[in-house]
Amino acid sequence: MLAAAAAAPACLAGFGRGAGPGDRVRVGFIGTGNQGMGLLKRFLAADLGDVVAVCDVNQGSTGYKEPDHFYGREPALALVRKEAGLKGRAVACDAYADFRKLLDRRDLDAVVIVTPDHWHAAMTVLACDAGKDVYCEKPLSFAAAEGRRMIEAVRRGRRILQTGSQERSNPVSRFVCEAVKAGRIGRLRRVVTKVGFNNKVGPGPGWQAMPVPATFDYRAWLGPAPDQPYHQDRCLYRFRFNYDYSGGQITNFGAHCNDMAHWGMNCDTGGPVEVECLEAKFLPVGSLFNTATETRFRCRYADGVELVCESGSETVQTRFEGTDGWLQTGYQGTTASDPRLLDGLPEKGTGTRDQHSLHLANFIDCVRSRREPHAPVEVGHASALLCHAANALIRLFPTTGPVPAAWDAAAEKFVDHDAANRRLVPEQRDPWS
Ligand SMILES: NC(=O)c1ccc[n+]([C@@H]2O[C@H](COP(=O)([O-])OP(=O)(O)OC[C@H]3O[C@@H](n4cnc5c(N)ncnc54)[C@H](O)[C@@H]3O)[C@@H](O)[C@H]2O)c1
Repeated sequence: MLAAAAAAPACLAGFGRGAGPGDRVRVGFIGTGNQGMGLLKRFLAADLGDVVAVCDVNQGSTGYKEPDHFYGREPALALVRKEAGLKGRAVACDAYADFRKLLDRRDLDAVVIVTPDHWHAAMTVLACDAGKDVYCEKPLSFAAAEGRRMIEAVRRGRRILQTGSQERSNPVSRFVCEAVKAGRIGRLRRVVTKVGFNNKVGPGPGWQAMPVPATFDYRAWLGPAPDQPYHQDRCLYRFRFNYDYSGGQITNFGAHCNDMAHWGMNCDTGGPVEVECLEAKFLPVGSLFNTATETRFRCRYADGVELVCESGSETVQTRFEGTDGWLQTGYQGTTASDPRLLDGLPEKGTGTRDQHSLHLANFIDCVRSRREPHAPVEVGHASALLCHAANALIRLFPTTGPVPAAWDAAAEKFVDHDAANRRLVPEQRDPWS
């Protein structure tokens, strides 16, 4: 990997710094934008540990998901100091523009990685090699081939990794997926998942480059991604609609609903035997947003179960159809073909519990206990891999149309499909390649 990785300190197998069970976990946040600030607020509110470092290549600006959101490393630092002050804690927190300097700190136990997808793998591998436990946002990887390297880094260093698939800590999702696994709807036949439509509009063909703001390190933001002229709609929040950094809503929301699908299918670390893209629409060539705007794909699994994932007005939804009824859960609530199938459902039908906080708390518990978290690296990899396989065919759809492709789940690639397999391996710039 990188020179910095080679120079990293030897891995510590236990709770970092050799800290004892009563010690507070010392954490650094990398990427303090839309989701990073949300997680940071929850972490501080629940007093899960000490945030001693924050890092972002953006000093501080608007331009995030909503017009009034002002995020970046200085807003994050101010938030930590304010919350620590309110709680009467005299814990120092430092702000970094370069995450490698944060990883150099020997007093850090864990990092929370909330950067765009194209950074997840490099940061996770370097963090593990530096002896840190990792909470890494979903989708775990940007490209299929990265996931295996992330697993190796976690297992080599005996680190804890929690994928940011917070539905794994949501009692409602747990109830539904475990009920399906236990046969409550009979034999599972089909799973239908929904991903929301694009929620932002980007510039069309002929868009003009913009000057880079003085407060934003664009080179560091790009990192391993191809060199491209700056435009504000390329970066903050909107990166998810460009294949250089993410995979559109298939990896954004799909990492949640397809992860729940795998959970209920009892296929946490497995994959399909066949994938087919049935529909894919794109914006005109030359638009800054180049990910599919509407999609539908299907997967066949070895046990005969079919998974269909499609764009829809529901942001994240997973519906399990069995021989004795159906159960459905997602951001819009939880329903069933028969209300008795929901007997025992926690917080019936609402799903409003803060699963993000529960998921962070589970991570910190596991940092201390060294037990496996709710969404370990192999689980995050399997659900990201499914989304990446689908995206490979979605991107080829304009030329190929709907063609079923055999998938080798063990080899983690398509059988005899070079064009699709090339899409699974990221092209990354040095020194990150
Ligand atoms: N679990 C969830 O429900 C959920 C929700 C939203 C986003 N996410 C995930 O969180 C990640 C971030 O999404 P977002 O919406 O917060 O994006 P964002 O653009 O709002 O925030 C990302 C931040 O990372 C910073 N960054 C980029 N490169 C960096 C680097 N090299 N070092 C330090 N900071 C860097 C950016 O400047 C930005 O402030 C994505 O992977 C996304 O899929 C998860």
